[in-house]
Amino acid sequence: MGCLTGKYQVLCLLSLLFLHSPSSFSSSLSSNSQCSALLQFNNSLSLDSYVSSYDRSSSHVQLCETSYPRTASWKEDKHCCSWDGVECDKNTGHVIGLDLSCSRLKGAIDSNSTLFLLRHLRSLNLAGNYFHYSPNSSEFGQFKSLTHLNLSHSFSVDHILSEISQLSSLVSLDLSYNNYMLIETPIWNNLTLLRELHLDYTDMSSIRPKSLMNLSSSLTTLSLHSCNLQGKLENSILLLPSLQTLDLGSNPYLNGSLPKSNWSSTSLKFLDLSKIKISGEIPEFIGNLKALKYLDLSYCKLSGSIPTSLGNFTQITDLILSSNNFTGSIPTSLENLTQLTLLSLSKNKLSGVIPACLGNLTKLTSLQLVSNNFNGLLPSSLLNLPNLSTLLLGDNQLVGPLPNHLVGVVAVEIIVSAWLSIKYPVTCKVDGFDVLEHINNLCALE
Ligand SMILES: *[C@@H]1O[C@H](CO)[C@@H](O)[C@H](O)[C@H]1NC(C)=O
Ligand SMILES: *[C@@H]1O[C@H](CO)[C@@H](O)[C@H](O)[C@H]1NC(C)=O
Ligand SMILES: *[C@@H]1O[C@H](CO)[C@@H](O)[C@H](O)[C@H]1NC(C)=O
Ligand SMILES: *[C@@H]1O[C@H](CO)[C@@H](O)[C@H](O)[C@H]1NC(C)=O
Ligand SMILES: *[C@@H]1O[C@H](CO)[C@@H](O)[C@H](O)[C@H]1NC(C)=O
Ligand SMILES: *[C@@H]1O[C@H](CO)[C@@H](O)[C@H](O)[C@H]1NC(C)=O
Ligand SMILES: *[C@@H]1O[C@H](CO)[C@@H](O)[C@H](O)[C@H]1NC(C)=O
Ligand SMILES: *[C@@H]1O[C@H](CO)[C@@H](O)[C@H](O)[C@H]1NC(C)=O
Repeated sequence: MGCLTGKYQVLCLLSLLFLHSPSSFSSSLSSNSQCSALLQFNNSLSLDSYVSSYDRSSSHVQLCETSYPRTASWKEDKHCCSWDGVECDKNTGHVIGLDLSCSRLKGAIDSNSTLFLLRHLRSLNLAGNYFHYSPNSSEFGQFKSLTHLNLSHSFSVDHILSEISQLSSLVSLDLSYNNYMLIETPIWNNLTLLRELHLDYTDMSSIRPKSLMNLSSSLTTLSLHSCNLQGKLENSILLLPSLQTLDLGSNPYLNGSLPKSNWSSTSLKFLDLSKIKISGEIPEFIGNLKALKYLDLSYCKLSGSIPTSLGNFTQITDLILSSNNFTGSIPTSLENLTQLTLLSLSKNKLSGVIPACLGNLTKLTSLQLVSNNFNGLLPSSLLNLPNLSTLLLGDNQLVGPLPNHLVGVVAVEIIVSAWLSIKYPVTCKVDGFDVLEHINNLCALE
């Protein structure tokens, strides 16, 4: 550590210069002072193997699938540009990228932190660590060149927001899952180059949804899941032309309706508007969103019939329309959704027979039709679906014998109340083939 402080620092830098036979004195000097800044930053933090296991606040999903201490492999006898997570510019030698995400780091980052000496940083990812001890002073505003900043699940202090709102080069900003960090002003107003904005699980209750209209029209990702947004959602957000991912789910005090025209994005792939007060019908031209892979409109207040045009979603894997007031029958056009793995229409007022053509959806793993008014027989085509593992049918008016053969099905979870006319649904796990026998053996029927 003698290398780092006081008058020895210059000597040490000079000796490193010889070791690395630099091509240019000034660039090496700056990169080495950045190495010592990194080293001191490293020494100001500790490793804690429990950090990786902190849940995303109240979502029960973990941010880091895996975590490992990148800094543990940092060695003083190697140039810092070769350290795990450190990226240097090949020409200038400046440290331009630092990725210490999911690295089990714990500690405080205050305004004296040598992290803020890395002025040339373009990309900084500290997500999935524990810096909640940080006091309310820092210098994030110094990172004038920063284009990518990821502080997801790592900070809980609000003061950094005013500093971050000055980083006008930002293209991607992720402040999600920070203990409902309070966002009181539209921090994106100055960030005109922003393409990705993730603020999930922050507290945006004092932000007017209208101020989202200032987001750049080149925005590709807007993720505001569970932000306590309140008031009327402007349709212009749904119509942003470059959007690929839009997640406004779980904002129960947000209200609005789906666009009545002009909704024809060819880029939108992920749309979650669940648990928002969206009323009215789904417009037929939703079918213009041909690139959709994921659509969740559950727990809204939608009514009317399910548009036939959903049959245009040939890329879609997840279609979730449960817990609304949809009426009418299942459109047979859904047979075109050949990539579908999850179809949930539970808890609506749908009626008619379950169309046999759903048996074309060979990738389906989960079919959920609970609590509707479906009648008639369960088509045998559904029981031949090769990947089906969850089939929920309870609380309908299905008739006929309980199917006793599930060809090729590995494990089916059936809610059998539809047939056994018991009041409360019973969930049974069976391992295929003789369902009745398994139900008799395994289900704790009252
Ligand atoms: C960086 O910190 C880690 C753990 O805190 C430590 O194992 C490692 O030796 C440090 N690296 C340097 C170069 O000091
Ligand atoms: C920063 O360092 C100075 C000088 O060492 C010290 O007086 C000050 O309290 C420090 N500030 C913080 C926020 O730690
Ligand atoms: C931020 O980092 C976390 C952890 O690595 C990652 O899951 C998340 O996708 C990153 N956010 C962005 C916008 O890249
Ligand atoms: C934050 O800083 C302000 C002054 O800028 C100070 O009055 C306040 O006590 C500080 N709060 C905390 C929690 O450190
Ligand atoms: C936006 O930039 C202007 C001019 O640089 C500045 O005065 C203002 O405070 C900034 N707004 C925010 C929210 O940072
Ligand atoms: C949009 O940004 C401009 C410039 O920063 C600001 O004057 C205006 O009030 C903002 N509009 C909304 C709705 O926040
Ligand atoms: C939406 O919310 C705003 C603000 O709370 C309210 O004034 C308005 O009446 C609501 N609109 C609908 C259709 O519920
Ligand atoms: C639809 O697009 C037309 C032409 O681009 C435009 O004039 C109209 O205002 C748009 N309507 C809505 C509701 O955005």
